[in-house]
Amino acid sequence: MHGRAVAANPNVKLIAVFDPKAARAKALARKYGARVSCNMQEVLDDPRVDAVHVLTPPDHHIKTAVASLKAGKHVLVEKPVAWRANDIKRLQSAAEKANRVCMPAHNYIYNPSLQRAKRLISEGKLGRVASLWVLYNIFHPERVAAIYGGVLRAVCVHHAYSLLYLLGRPSRLTATASKVHYRELTCEDQAMIVCQMPNGVIANLWCSFAAKDLTSDPWTVVYKVLGTEGGLSYSWNEAQYEDDRGPGWGLPCYVESFRNEVDYFINRCVLGGEPPLSTLADALDSLRIIEAAERASSNKAQVETIQYDT
Ligand SMILES: NC(=O)c1ccc[n+]([C@@H]2O[C@H](COP(=O)([O-])OP(=O)(O)OC[C@H]3O[C@@H](n4cnc5c(N)ncnc54)[C@H](O)[C@@H]3O)[C@@H](O)[C@H]2O)c1
Repeated sequence: MHGRAVAANPNVKLIAVFDPKAARAKALARKYGARVSCNMQEVLDDPRVDAVHVLTPPDHHIKTAVASLKAGKHVLVEKPVAWRANDIKRLQSAAEKANRVCMPAHNYIYNPSLQRAKRLISEGKLGRVASLWVLYNIFHPERVAAIYGGVLRAVCVHHAYSLLYLLGRPSRLTATASKVHYRELTCEDQAMIVCQMPNGVIANLWCSFAAKDLTSDPWTVVYKVLGTEGGLSYSWNEAQYEDDRGPGWGLPCYVESFRNEVDYFINRCVLGGEPPLSTLADALDSLRIIEAAERASSNKAQVETIQYDT
C-alpha cells in the first residue's frame, strides 16, 4: 500500500527498501525500481533518502523511527506508533531535536469524507453532537490475527485517533472484550469501548475480527455522527470493485487512505511545513485511550478516567 502510494506521488521516488526478510525487500524494490539495502544503517547513510516509512511490526517502530530522525530523515510511522503510550515521548523529543516531521500513519482520517465530517461538525451543521459510532468488522483466520494480536491494540487505535480528530478527547470510558472465534490465540477477537466526552457526547467504538459480516463483504467500516440538527454517515461500502490480487480488496476508501496520507505527509507536511491531521501527541493520547480500555475490560468493564499529557 505504501509502495503504491509513493509511486503515485510525483514529488517522491522509492530509493531503498530494507527488510530482514530479504526476499520481501527484493520483491518490493523490484516492483518500484528501488534498491535493496542490507541493513537499516545503509538506508540512513544514503544522502538521497529524505524520508523513511517505518512499516515494521509495532515493537520495532520507536527504535527505527528515532534512528531515522537522528539521521535527519522525516518519518511516517505505522500505527500503533508504539506498544506503550510513554514510548511515544521519546519520538516526540527526537523529532523536535532533529526538526523533522514525524507523522503517525493514521490513514483512516485522511479520507476526504472524514475531513468533510470534521468540517460539518465544527461548522455546527449537525447542531449539538450527541453520539459517534464507529463499527469495524473483518473476519481474520487465526494465522492472520496472530500477526496483529488482540483487536484493542491492533485496531481500536484507528477508532481512538478518529475520535480525537472528529470530536476531541473523551474524559472517561468503559470497555468490554471477548473471544468468540479464536481457538489457540488467547487475546480478544472483539471489543467495545464506550467513551464519554466532557460535553456529554457518547462515542461507541466497536471492533471485531470474529464475525463474517457477509452483508458488507469482506470488511465493514462505518462511521456515524448524530446531532440535534442532523447526522452524517460514512462507509467503506460507498465504492467497491473486483480486485482479487489485493491487497486492498477493491475498497478504494482503504486503498486511497494510504495515498491520501502519503500525499499529505510529503506535500503538506514535509514540503509545505504544515502539521499532520493527527500528530504524535494524538498518537500518545490514542494509546492512553487504548490503555484505559484495556484496564476497563480486564476490570469487569469498570469506568476509567483517562489521564492525558496534552
Ligand atoms: N494503517 C493500516 O491500515 C494498517 C494495516 C495493516 C498493518 N498496519 C501496520 O503496519 C505494520 C506492519 O504490518 P504488516 O501487516 O505489514 O506486518 P508484516 O509482518 O506483514 O510485515 C512487517 C515486515 O517488517 C519486517 N521487519 C521486521 N523487523 C524489521 C526491522 N527491524 N526493520 C525493517 N523491517 C522489519 C518483517 O520482516 C516483515 O516483512 C504494523 O505496525 C501494523 O500495525 C497498518
